Amino acid sequence: MNIAVITGASAGLGLEYAKAVYETRADLDEIWVIARREDRLQELQTQLGSTVIPVAFDITDPQAVENYVNLLKEKNATVKLLINNAGFGKLNNFEDISTQENARMVRLNCEALTVMTSVTLPFMNEHSEIINSCSIASFAPNTRMAVYSSTKAYVMSLSRALRLELKPRKINVLAVCPGPMDTEFLGIANIEKGVSHTFDTMPRVNPRIMAVKSLAVSRKGRAVYTNLLFYKFFRLVAKILPHSLVMKMCGT
Ligand SMILES: NC(=O)c1ccc[n+]([C@@H]2O[C@H](COP(=O)([O-])OP(=O)(O)OC[C@H]3O[C@@H](n4cnc5c(N)ncnc54)[C@H](OP(=O)(O)O)[C@@H]3O)[C@@H](O)[C@H]2O)c1
Repeated sequence: MNIAVITGASAGLGLEYAKAVYETRADLDEIWVIARREDRLQELQTQLGSTVIPVAFDITDPQAVENYVNLLKEKNATVKLLINNAGFGKLNNFEDISTQENARMVRLNCEALTVMTSVTLPFMNEHSEIINSCSIASFAPNTRMAVYSSTKAYVMSLSRALRLELKPRKINVLAVCPGPMDTEFLGIANIEKGVSHTFDTMPRVNPRIMAVKSLAVSRKGRAVYTNLLFYKFFRLVAKILPHSLVMKMCGT
């Protein structure tokens, strides 16, 4: 049985990934949607159909991950597409974010993504794909998002290294780098209007378009994808200029 696995599918970009995979990947038998809010996943199944399978769990919980692996074995699943999308951020000075929140960000954005990749890879074969939700925050360090941007730099580095390692197995790894999207993410990150001049003025990315386009470029074997000319230009600038300068220019 060929399946897709999508983490963080109960909202925002992950929800759009689930819809776009459903619409474009008729070759897949099932789409496993993962998040903690089971009711949201069930709603998605009601909306799209029985090939969408709610698999509700906290991806930072080792026992729950073990249950997920057992389910993959039990169903004799081949994972043709893994979308590591669950993640969150916090906007504030490092010292004003609690130790627990900073640790939770690292645990979800880095550790859980690594664990999910590690346990799922044995169930993947030739022409399978991994898509990792990264961010424009990975292009250079960000003040007031020090931990978040560091977690996304980790995702970028891991994705690029893994892509080369997995070339002989013909598995592609894509790092997707959205700019700000109007999802639950912004509220959770405390990025309400008026809190940050930088965020207030940054162009918004449409999560639906981001999902559809990144699925298409993943199939073409690309390594990194960001959309909107503004963010493509920012990526170039962050590659050319010293990061000390980029950080001063950006501010948050
Ligand atoms: N929105 C932006 O501005 C933006 C910009 C750049 C990059 N990104 C990145 O894009 C990705 C998706 O963001 P989004 O905007 O779609 O955020 P979102 O709307 O807040 O959705 C986050 C998803 O992750 C799930 N999730 C959170 N903790 C989880 C856990 N422990 N176990 C399982 N699932 C968990 C949430 O579901 P439950 O609460 O039901 O578990 C939800 O489905 C993230 O990696 C984010 O860092 C977002």
